Amino acid sequence: MAAVKIGLLGFGTVGRGVYKVLNSHREKIYNTLGVEVEIARVLVRNLEKYQKTYPELSNLFTENPREVIDDPEIKIVVEVMGGIKPALDYVLQAMRNGKSVITANKDMVAEHGRELFATHEEQGVDFLFEASVAGGIPIIRTLKESLAGNNFKEVIGIINGTTNYMLTKMSLYGAPYEEVLKEAQEKGYAEADPTSDVEGFDAARKLAILASIAFNSRVTFKDVYAEGITRITPIDIQYARELGGVIKLLGIAKEDEEGIEVRVHPTIIPQSHPLAAVNDVFNAIFVEGDAVGPLMFYGRGAGEFPTASAVVGDIIEAVKNISHHDTGRIGCTCYLEKPVKPIGE
Ligand code: NAP
Ligand code: HSE
Repeated sequence: MAAVKIGLLGFGTVGRGVYKVLNSHREKIYNTLGVEVEIARVLVRNLEKYQKTYPELSNLFTENPREVIDDPEIKIVVEVMGGIKPALDYVLQAMRNGKSVITANKDMVAEHGRELFATHEEQGVDFLFEASVAGGIPIIRTLKESLAGNNFKEVIGIINGTTNYMLTKMSLYGAPYEEVLKEAQEKGYAEADPTSDVEGFDAARKLAILASIAFNSRVTFKDVYAEGITRITPIDIQYARELGGVIKLLGIAKEDEEGIEVRVHPTIIPQSHPLAAVNDVFNAIFVEGDAVGPLMFYGRGAGEFPTASAVVGDIIEAVKNISHHDTGRIGCTCYLEKPVKPIGE
């Protein structure tokens, strides 16, 4: 069978990671799938900059999105450019062109999930977004498939790597806020605009996606109460310590008879709590299923390789489904409209 061709939209932290992981695991991936996976085209904004930096990949780069999303040879489009516009248009067009789409873009999924899922179902193509929540932790497919025999009442987690990295350094080493934010940016953890990390918006988008899946509903970014870490001072950290606690930015989603509650805010948790030991760029998600009981998932929530790991997992899934003529399998038509309870002013 001929290699399955992939088009990348973006070649930043995550795009480069995907390229490297696919290359460094070429043999293992071939042994898993029985077919080669090949990156055939990469959309970038500034062709000259990328051709100069990566001369060996010069032929792959293009500034023309049509060369990715309209190319009939490309079967899978991987969107790792970020933002809503023009990413959303490219992704919708790629699905309408019969391509499977994989994305790491929580902004797009949390704000335009309805349109994206509807197009995925209409077109019968895969739309996979494992990397959009908690970096390398395989939580989306786990909730959707492995834990399908459970109802969940709550999902609680540390789901932003940048702020957890910052709070860890501020708490353990007394490092100043601006310095640790700069470090998180240099390590490739932070969003292009880090405001969305530090104001809690990034975690709110991830929580909307998690709550939608866990509670089989449609929760969007605007439904989530979000408060970030910008007002956390060394005094707050010291008070938390005196109380035997530690400050973490938590995402909390709960469902009861009255509806769904979704909120992100700094919280003092006891030092003995399992989430208190989740430090650095690590994320953790706690869920309690009525069949399985409590579960906690832990891993790196951001960065080049952890995120690429999640994207490559989705690529493997999409290639398998293409080979078996089984794309678009996991539909979302059966979700329920549920009320989301207002929080705060
Ligand atoms: P990044 O380092 O800023 O890279 C973005 C890439 O997309 C760059 O190559 C950029 O080109 C390109 N790009 C942006 N807008 C474009 C446009 N209009 N046309 C063509 N190319 C465009 O971002 P990243 O950290 O890789 O993140 C990518 C996505 O993954 C985002 O949705 C992010 O939320 C998500 N994500 C990131 C992480 C992480 O740890 N970094 C983890 C999970 C999910 P230029 O260099 O020319 O701007
Ligand atoms: N900026 C995000 C974070 C990237 O720090 O968690 C991973 O989604």
